[in-house]
Amino acid sequence: MIISHILATSENRVIGVNGDLPWDIPEDMKFFKNKTKKHIIIMGRKTFESFPGQKALPNRLNIVITRQQNYKPENTVVVNSIDGALRYAESKTQEYSNEVFIIGGGEIYNQTLKLANKIYLTQIHKDFEGDTKYPVLNNDEFKVTERTDHTDPVPFSFLTYERV
Ligand SMILES: NC(=O)c1ccc[n+]([C@@H]2O[C@H](COP(=O)([O-])OP(=O)(O)OC[C@H]3O[C@@H](n4cnc5c(N)ncnc54)[C@H](OP(=O)(O)O)[C@@H]3O)[C@@H](O)[C@H]2O)c1
Repeated sequence: MIISHILATSENRVIGVNGDLPWDIPEDMKFFKNKTKKHIIIMGRKTFESFPGQKALPNRLNIVITRQQNYKPENTVVVNSIDGALRYAESKTQEYSNEVFIIGGGEIYNQTLKLANKIYLTQIHKDFEGDTKYPVLNNDEFKVTERTDHTDPVPFSFLTYERV
């Protein structure tokens, strides 16, 4: 199973503010949707609750991690640990894909960076105010293998990092 992080971050490593994204970049949303479509996505409870209407993303297996015992939103699989999420994902790769996406947020990225094989990182070339950050990547651990640059509505790059 390939474990991939997918995220957007500002120059100062911000990924979230007040439970939401600090920016609106339609091309990045499109990129996220295309990459994760028909795949397994794993997320923390707070990221799930940031979705419009708190609804599962369609055409994907949505795995939500929480410590709560009675949490059960529709069309999701709820697990109580990161290990539990990865074990469930592993059992479903035949049905979906061997690449599994961890889609946030900060707490879940932090706890799973050591397990990630690949990172799809949308680097926004600007600082933003926020309360949730992504860790600094170690150049000895991850190398950029793909890059495309964009300018609308702000300068940003789609970067693919792979574990060295
Ligand atoms: N820029 C991006 O690409 C991007 C992507 C995703 C999210 N975000 C942003 O990131 C922010 C949310 O991130 P966050 O760090 O606040 O929250 P989060 O990681 O989405 O969710 C945190 C929650 O996950 C559960 N959890 C965490 N670790 C756990 C563990 N080891 N075992 C069981 N449950 C665990 C807990 O849920 P309970 O409290 O229910 O127990 C915890 O409160 C939002 O602003 C969102 O918009 C940005």
